[in-house]
Amino acid sequence: MKQELLKKFEEVYGSSEGARVYFAPGRVNLIGDHTDYNGGHVFPCALTIGTYVVARKREDKKLQFYSMNYPENGITEGTLGDLKYRRSNGWTNYPIGILWTYARKGYKIHNGFDMMLYGNIPSGAGLGTSASIGVALGLMIREMFGIDDITNTDIALFGQYAENEFHGINCGIMDQFASAMGKKDYAIFLDTSDLRYEYAPIDMSEYALVITNSHKARGAFDAKYNERRMECERALAELQSVIAIHSLGELTPECYEQVKEMIVEPVLVRRAAHAVYENQRTIDAIKALKENDIMKFGQLMIESHKSLKENYEVTGKELDVLVEEALKVPGVIGSRMTGGGFGGCTVSLMKKDAVEMFTIEVGKNYTEKTGYYADFYNVEMGDGARVL
Ligand code: GLA
Repeated sequence: MKQELLKKFEEVYGSSEGARVYFAPGRVNLIGDHTDYNGGHVFPCALTIGTYVVARKREDKKLQFYSMNYPENGITEGTLGDLKYRRSNGWTNYPIGILWTYARKGYKIHNGFDMMLYGNIPSGAGLGTSASIGVALGLMIREMFGIDDITNTDIALFGQYAENEFHGINCGIMDQFASAMGKKDYAIFLDTSDLRYEYAPIDMSEYALVITNSHKARGAFDAKYNERRMECERALAELQSVIAIHSLGELTPECYEQVKEMIVEPVLVRRAAHAVYENQRTIDAIKALKENDIMKFGQLMIESHKSLKENYEVTGKELDVLVEEALKVPGVIGSRMTGGGFGGCTVSLMKKDAVEMFTIEVGKNYTEKTGYYADFYNVEMGDGARVL
């Protein structure tokens, strides 16, 4: 892959001298969704698909961008002197946003660069594409300019900062953290309140994890996502009148039950309930995994989906049908939507020998019930961001 990318870079820019190749993966979250911006726990793993960036430093302040995913755009240009978000910039808002973030954090970049991007995460699938772009670019800038006091966790935080402050998407840290810190064959149990984490081995000798792409477009995702986050903030503000907490993630379910009547609007009660119980399920899930209780892990996945459907209302018909159909297949242990929702993918845990039947049955029934086609990918857990 590295050689092919360098060859393509040479074709686009005339030579590949001085160019290096960077990679940052996408992610799938096994359990713990819509908990990361509530100071709760998440349990994602990095994938082997993601974003590749090939780049080399320039002597002047010019920026040149090329995407293999949008070859029709050719090379477009920018300059270090103009790091503003513009809708017309399209995908190049990502490199501009990461440069802008470095500047905001006190790192002055004096040289421009020529860069080429290639992503192989299915588009719109909700598998952490934009996070992987941000992390790959954060890594590129750190390495290209020899900034040595930036850790991979900082790269994740810079990526999130760019999403929040430059793109206006109030996402949490999960996707960027998984992309920057992933480890082959491990998932990451991350406490988003303080970024303490633990790698948990996922033994796939008897079981398989399968991602199912609903191909349902995640229409108006950003607006709906930001709305959920605001609802949680409103619920938190009401609870803070009786209990000294900084986030919903600090509440145990028992404690939440005692104070929940302070929340007036029923819809906010449901949102907060999801945040609190989903956090507990994630903690319970890693415990189950450590005790080798795979059935319990699957049960928690099923409960997680139910709560994302009923309390958080982020699933929609397509993801619900995928989960319902998945659970009918013998050998399937758990299934749930993964990531932000409103379309995108599910992740299902099953016995290895159930995979074939799963793809046939779920594929057929899903199309019959929704009119969409489903795609299936075996989860391969890969390493986090790196220079190739
Ligand atoms: C998106 C966001 C993450 C997280 C998930 C839901 O992927 O980028 O920060 O909130 O949704 O768990």
